[in-house]
Amino acid sequence: MGFILAAIGSAVGLGNIWRFPFQTSANGGAAFLVVYLLAVLLIGIPVLLAEFVIGRRANTSAIGAFRKLGRPGWWFVGAVGVIAAFWTLSYYSVIGGWVIRYIGGSITGGALAAPESYFGAISVGLPSVGTHAIFMLITIGIVALGIEDGIELATKVMVPAVVVMLVGLAAFAATLPGASEGYAFFLNPNLDTIIANAGTVLPAAFGQAFFSLSVGFSVMITYASYLGKNDSLPVDGVTIGISNTIIGVLAGLVVLPLLFAQGVEPGSGGPGAVFVAIPTALAELPGGGLVGQAVGVVFFGVILIAALSSAISLLEVVVAYLVDNYGFSRLPTAAGIGAAIFLLGIPSAWETAWLDWFDGIGVTLLLPITVLFVVLFVGWVLGQDAIDELTDGSGIGSLAPIWLWGIRTFILAVVVIVVAINLWDLLATPDTGYYIVPGPLR
Ligand code: PHE
Repeated sequence: MGFILAAIGSAVGLGNIWRFPFQTSANGGAAFLVVYLLAVLLIGIPVLLAEFVIGRRANTSAIGAFRKLGRPGWWFVGAVGVIAAFWTLSYYSVIGGWVIRYIGGSITGGALAAPESYFGAISVGLPSVGTHAIFMLITIGIVALGIEDGIELATKVMVPAVVVMLVGLAAFAATLPGASEGYAFFLNPNLDTIIANAGTVLPAAFGQAFFSLSVGFSVMITYASYLGKNDSLPVDGVTIGISNTIIGVLAGLVVLPLLFAQGVEPGSGGPGAVFVAIPTALAELPGGGLVGQAVGVVFFGVILIAALSSAISLLEVVVAYLVDNYGFSRLPTAAGIGAAIFLLGIPSAWETAWLDWFDGIGVTLLLPITVLFVVLFVGWVLGQDAIDELTDGSGIGSLAPIWLWGIRTFILAVVVIVVAINLWDLLATPDTGYYIVPGPLR
């Protein structure tokens, strides 16, 4: 399948539309936005290129890539990424299930009539486990049958559709009283706030940048193994990085003004923020309930495609690894692994606190650590080979050494700082943050 479409399909997903707005709202608005944008440009895109370099040079899926590059001892980097993919899909699928539920809830109107209690009812317990199962089954079906080509077409439709829907909703949100406070919160950064909260904003913004770009999951390594020598890695990386970021920021321009217009305290929406804010707005669309319901069906339908094209990339890395390395056949492997991921996701489906916990461990621990090893590997092990690989097909000869030096020094230093902050949180302050096990199932 077309690499760039697959990669954009993987990057654009619930991370942009669900995670970005509520993280922004929880982490100080514009302060988060600024650090996030810097993280994408200065760190995220160069790391994305590093994963492309590994994948295309090795021309095989993630764990085998390190062996094929003549550094078998580094296989564990691919392994941590595969584990991160397994881990992440377990709760990603829960949110995907909510999206499916909201398509139904838009058809019946139930989701728009009383958004808050609707979300409360469908996001926990058996209903949530049920929709999690449905989402996982669809994902397994696509990966098992190897019909990802269909996703190429879906991505072609999904990306423009997401943009149109978000622009339309953003325009509507702008007309609501109270929206301007949302813009002030989202778009007007204050340096002092950033500095005072660096310890929380930095890890959150970097985690979001990696998550949203799908780096640190071995996904982009695996996808880049399909690339030809004539493809320009920098052009592809920048295209993916920018389009993905625009979609996240657009979602912010919808959700934050809506939250303010609806009088929700910043940060209090949590994982439900989008699922409550959007239906509340849909119910108020001019033209009455049916218009809102129709827009809701299309909106959540488009988000479902975005979520599926990300979810299949997560399942695919795990399946591709087992199929490539052990010669397992595709269908049973996809079914077996998918079933295991479903089981791991049950706590997240049952209780939102668990979803938060899984998300926190994945994004603050697994992700930055894999990224750290990718950076070390490409910068200090591949070295000159990485420059050659990045230059092939790109015509950016003179920029490649600058990129490598960035990877070796500045980027490495920043990622080390992010990992250090997260480990500090884990080890030194064990009773705060994501590392405490949530109450209900303790
Ligand atoms: N980037 C995806 C999103 O924003 C999530 C994802 C992460 C998908 C890692 C694949 C790999 O929704």
